[in-house]
Amino acid sequence: MSGSRTVIRGGLVITAADEMPADVLIEDGRVVAVAAHGGDYAAGWTADRTIDATDLYVVPGGVDAHTHMELPFGGTSASDTFETGTRAAAWGGTTTIVDFAVQTKGQALREGLDAWHAKAAGNCAVDYAFHMILSDVNDSSLKEMDLLVEEGLTSFKLFMAYPGVFYSDDGQILRAMQRSAGNGGLIMMHAENGIAIDVLVQQALAAGRTDPRYHGEVRRALLEAEATHRAIQLARVAGAPLYVVHVSAQEAVQELAAARDMGLDVFGETCPQYLFLSTDNLAEPDFEGAKYVCSTPLRPREHQAALWRGLRTNDLQVVSTDHCPFCFTGQKELGRGDFSKIPNGLPGVENRMDLLHQAVVEGHISRRRWIEIACATPARMFGLYPKKGTIAPGADADIVLYDPRAEQTLSARTHHMNVDYSAYEGKRITGRVVTVLSRGETVIDRQRFTGRAGHGAYVPRDTCQYLD
Ligand code: URP
Ligand code: ZN
Ligand code: ZN
Repeated sequence: MSGSRTVIRGGLVITAADEMPADVLIEDGRVVAVAAHGGDYAAGWTADRTIDATDLYVVPGGVDAHTHMELPFGGTSASDTFETGTRAAAWGGTTTIVDFAVQTKGQALREGLDAWHAKAAGNCAVDYAFHMILSDVNDSSLKEMDLLVEEGLTSFKLFMAYPGVFYSDDGQILRAMQRSAGNGGLIMMHAENGIAIDVLVQQALAAGRTDPRYHGEVRRALLEAEATHRAIQLARVAGAPLYVVHVSAQEAVQELAAARDMGLDVFGETCPQYLFLSTDNLAEPDFEGAKYVCSTPLRPREHQAALWRGLRTNDLQVVSTDHCPFCFTGQKELGRGDFSKIPNGLPGVENRMDLLHQAVVEGHISRRRWIEIACATPARMFGLYPKKGTIAPGADADIVLYDPRAEQTLSARTHHMNVDYSAYEGKRITGRVVTVLSRGETVIDRQRFTGRAGHGAYVPRDTCQYLD
């Protein structure tokens, strides 16, 4: 793209801050100017390529701050590789993912991070960054956190769930939070009381309650709320900010809201599956409910109103996918007869921008809030702004041309994720991605993939910019 100039003309540019009929000038993969249609300034731009955006929205590429490509989990691995998963992201208008590198127990953080770099390097269609999962908080991994923050890996996920696998106890959590208070890292928390949940799992299985729906029943909303409360108190003691991932229970939203009302730097993320799906899906017969097994689990439909409200009131700031796909055949099936053996996770990296546009159509959120929760705030939260998450001079030209009137039906037959089902099979969506630029390069051209594995680059990050 060296030396090349592209102009996008005639669209409605939407950012978290503004909506304006404007043209966008791109040079060498970056936005250099945004100016009103028809004015002398934009009319005078010369370019090698002009993209007509008449009747389309021109929005920043999506930033999905929570994905798990190729994650080993439950005796199998998430079915999207970095190649297939980032290609699907591009199809869905997401141009940056932040995936979770994993420290397994007994391993150095560096070893886990190197393994994730090896999986991703040369394979991604869009840009990517990493958080780090801490499974072994000890003197040495705490020291390593400082180095990683300096290098641009600035957020760390801890688990109050999954004893024996990813779980950290309260002392380990407190120590990691104290460290992050000093080094500027952001702790991301999987907030579920895993010790209590494991007791309920054993009791359910012993009573013959083995179907997928019991996964939702034992992972009680109160145990999400309790862990959320405890995580907030630990963060207060440590003097550290806190980001709670995949919030699904209204009681957990209440904990976040109460903390934020006290002025604490506590943030929350939810995911499309909690906004659009429910325990009704987990209860689908013939083991179909396994398709919807994830943790935190889907909740009864009534919880959705609290999540939408939280997104409107900014008690929840981000919608990420927690994309962690497992095929129904051969993977989800590992848990037939024992819900605790169903690999946890749902596909969705391709669907997030569309589902949130549908939320605009249905009146849950405004267009600018769509861009804020899907692009701008995840970029700010994880130190990628304004390179990512907005359309402004200096930003990477990660840009989506979106047709707000097109109709589509989500389906495994037409999606591009490497998974044999869609969690949203048959769902009608108003709106569709038309064209996607990643650093000025066209990766989706009028609904044709024109990208390539290896175009996507690793992006080191700043520390959290949402505290500024
Ligand atoms: O069910 C889920 N969420 N799987 C991915 C791992 C995690 O906890 O985020
Ligand atoms: Zn989690
Ligand atoms: Zn996750």
